[in-house]
Amino acid sequence: MSRNALTLVFPAAVVLLVCSLVVLFLTATGLEPGPLLVAEEEPARGCGVVADSATLAWRARVAEAQQRRASLTPADAAAVDAGDALFKSNCAQCHAIDDVVVGPALAGIGQRRPLPWIVKWVQNSSRVVASGDEYGVKLFNQYQKQQMPSFQLSAEQIQQIMKYVEVEAGNRVVLSGAQAVALN
Ligand code: HEC
Repeated sequence: MSRNALTLVFPAAVVLLVCSLVVLFLTATGLEPGPLLVAEEEPARGCGVVADSATLAWRARVAEAQQRRASLTPADAAAVDAGDALFKSNCAQCHAIDDVVVGPALAGIGQRRPLPWIVKWVQNSSRVVASGDEYGVKLFNQYQKQQMPSFQLSAEQIQQIMKYVEVEAGNRVVLSGAQAVALN
């Protein structure tokens, strides 16, 4: 290899090595986002390039998600992970956290309804509506009498989904232990 080519290749190799080490370090120290709360990837940028606003916004979101996550007990973190998976496979086709899709946005549901009501609703919403439940009937009419499917999920699984919803919404009011006890 000519001397000229070497002066090009060598610095490039060093930059590549430094970049990989930085990524390795961030991963090892846990500064990289966990898979749960931050779905997006950091915007692509060269190593050493001054961070643009998209990157700064991304970092702020990562820090926020980490804070939320760090304030969870290990048991709650496991419940949130389980709720995340359950939500994606059962509810996400009709519900989002902050937007109306087919059904209402679920952010703040823990304040709107007590957990035992939510459990009954998710297990069989038409029974709740048929019972004459005022809130349920109103909601059902408001959503053009579109019936939500019934789910064979346990109270615990539904609570996990709600915990996930609360954390995702950035809402610090995690469903209280008292409500969980009321279920038993
Ligand atoms: C096929 C669409 C669909 C699916 C799937 C679905 N929902 Fe719904 N959901 C609705 C609709 C529509 C409403 C509004 C009430 C109605 O029309 O019955 C609703 C209402 C709700 C409410 C009351 C919201 C409020 O603001 O009071 C909760 C809680 C809820 N759904 C939870 C869930 C959960 C948890 C899952 C997954 C296990 C789920 N839903 C899956 C369509 C759906």
